[in-house]
Amino acid sequence: MHYSFQIDSYEGYKAAYGKSVQQPEQFWSEIAEQFLWKKKWDKVLQWEFTTPDVKWFINGKLNITENCLDRHLASLGDKPAIIWEPNGVEEPHRVISYNELFFKVNQFVNVLRNNGVKKGDRICIYMGMVPELPIAMLACARVGAIHSVIFGGFSAQSIADRLTDANAAFIITCDGAYRGGKDIQLKSIIDDALVTCSFVRTVIVLNRTNTPVSMIKGRDIWWHEEIQKIEVQGNPVVPAEEMDSEDPLFILYTSGSTGKPKGVVHSSGGYMVYSTYSFVNVFQYKQGDVHFCTADIGWITGHTYIVYSVLCAGGTSVMYEGLPTWPDSGRLWDITDKHKVNVLYTAPTAIRSLMAYGLAPLEGKSLASLKVLGTVGEPINEEAWHWYDEHIGKKRCPIVDTWWQTETGGIMISNLAGITPSKPSYATLPLPGVQPVLVDEQGNVIEGNDVSGNLCIRYPWPSIIRTTYGDHERCRLNYFSSYKGMYFTGDGCYRDANGFYRITGRVDDVLNVSGHRIGTAEVENAINMHTGVLESAVVGYPHDLKGQGIYAFVIMDHAPDDADSIKADIMQTVSRVIGPIARPDKIQLVSGLPKTRSGKIMRRILRKIAENEPGAVGDTSTLLDPAVVEDIKNGGL
Ligand code: PRX
Repeated sequence: MHYSFQIDSYEGYKAAYGKSVQQPEQFWSEIAEQFLWKKKWDKVLQWEFTTPDVKWFINGKLNITENCLDRHLASLGDKPAIIWEPNGVEEPHRVISYNELFFKVNQFVNVLRNNGVKKGDRICIYMGMVPELPIAMLACARVGAIHSVIFGGFSAQSIADRLTDANAAFIITCDGAYRGGKDIQLKSIIDDALVTCSFVRTVIVLNRTNTPVSMIKGRDIWWHEEIQKIEVQGNPVVPAEEMDSEDPLFILYTSGSTGKPKGVVHSSGGYMVYSTYSFVNVFQYKQGDVHFCTADIGWITGHTYIVYSVLCAGGTSVMYEGLPTWPDSGRLWDITDKHKVNVLYTAPTAIRSLMAYGLAPLEGKSLASLKVLGTVGEPINEEAWHWYDEHIGKKRCPIVDTWWQTETGGIMISNLAGITPSKPSYATLPLPGVQPVLVDEQGNVIEGNDVSGNLCIRYPWPSIIRTTYGDHERCRLNYFSSYKGMYFTGDGCYRDANGFYRITGRVDDVLNVSGHRIGTAEVENAINMHTGVLESAVVGYPHDLKGQGIYAFVIMDHAPDDADSIKADIMQTVSRVIGPIARPDKIQLVSGLPKTRSGKIMRRILRKIAENEPGAVGDTSTLLDPAVVEDIKNGGL
């Protein structure tokens, strides 16, 4: 599949960027025309950031899966759409052609229909990294059901919160998932979540690990038995549901600065256009390229750059089950060589953890098929950037440092591989259609170069968040109320003398742990549920591998006899309530927290202590009880 919107020179980039700012509607209309629509739009864009109300390709009708599948069948039917590498190296990999993927998605559409799924229904997907996961997502999209994929590392409580928020009556899960040497009991976690979610009608269970599971009559059904019924029915081909451009495609929950994760809602038309536009341009996709994104599909990176954009472009997407370090730390390099991967897209935290094993795991690996490397999820430190460049890309593969967010749907600021300049630790330049601005705390726009500020975007792009599910006001408050007429990203940013952007990290109470977003308030809420805890405050601190680690200051109702065992119990509580990804790295039991006279916790002070710079806590005179700070400093872990 070739899209004529692919930029092939720096001049071409500048021209496209200029046009996207001067004539945005015409610009995006010409791009959108290259997709398959059931009915063309009447109007390209209508927007208002104060409410917010953003609509793209108004009254356009489509189904994204016709762009991912049907459109390619004639020319690419036998070509691999998905290559799947299982966790266990002795298990054979699977190659799923476009024809086969189309067939399987269609079969599962029938399963969903047989079970009463209708357009607009919310379906929670809680599966491991198996090909049936993208099949389930595409089948939902084909019937117009809104999927909400939940990462396999979240707890029963987190799942129950998300199920309730989306009022999802259907769940698709697996008996278990393999992750390195562990088997995660997914169905059993779902069973725990369902204790409080009686509105769930149907749970479809894929057998992956042969783990014994409880199957409740009238509610739980096996994936393979449902497929057998469809085979008996003769695998009828059903037409894809006609979706309005603005009909939601999916919900994806992400953490913010409040205690409760929010359901980011993406549209059908705009998301399709922007995700594919960004994929083709950033990675400089060429027909037949094999794209390996190492993310989990439970995060936005997997949604966009394992599933939707790669398939819309007619590419081959490699997905793997397991861990980069299992069975050994050469895993990603073995997969790269085995499947002749052209584009490798991973997170700085993965690069750092693999760096720690030295160069031995790279011995005997060719990596000659690689053309482009990418990073995402957190700022990449220069050391990791150079290691990636030298030892993986062998100094012949451009590295794209891609900045974006769950809310943006696709890459926003990044160099285009081999086309626009790169600079270590810089995301560099915005994609066409993206208008970044830096603002100070008062909301004044900071002009010029060699300046820092809070990163906002002042004009809509097609895959911008539309709402937070069930609570539009929350969407306004979170993203559109801090700075008038602008979308606020929550990130701090530096623009260098050449106008290149470098993301410096979150400026709100959101942590980025191993490239995963976690709200400090969420972790505090979980800690406060532990018996005996009176209050807690959570901050991030620099962590060599994870980027940021979680540091919790906790006040107990009485001094414990065995502090270590209390800390271990608190960690276990957080794992139970949110999931292992939110487990604090360090807990310090304290007698008080630094508060202002109005009762606000001075996190700045706690951050300095967590960063091991107690000398830099600064002025404490405005505190209600400055002595508390000395106690914390002297308290140790
Ligand atoms: O702080 C930024 C960081 O990750 C946040 C978004 O997290 P999430 O919604 O989970 O999406 C991650 C994958 C797109 C951002 O607010 N971030 C993401 N990419 C980069 C980054 N920070 C620096 N450089 C990046 N390339």
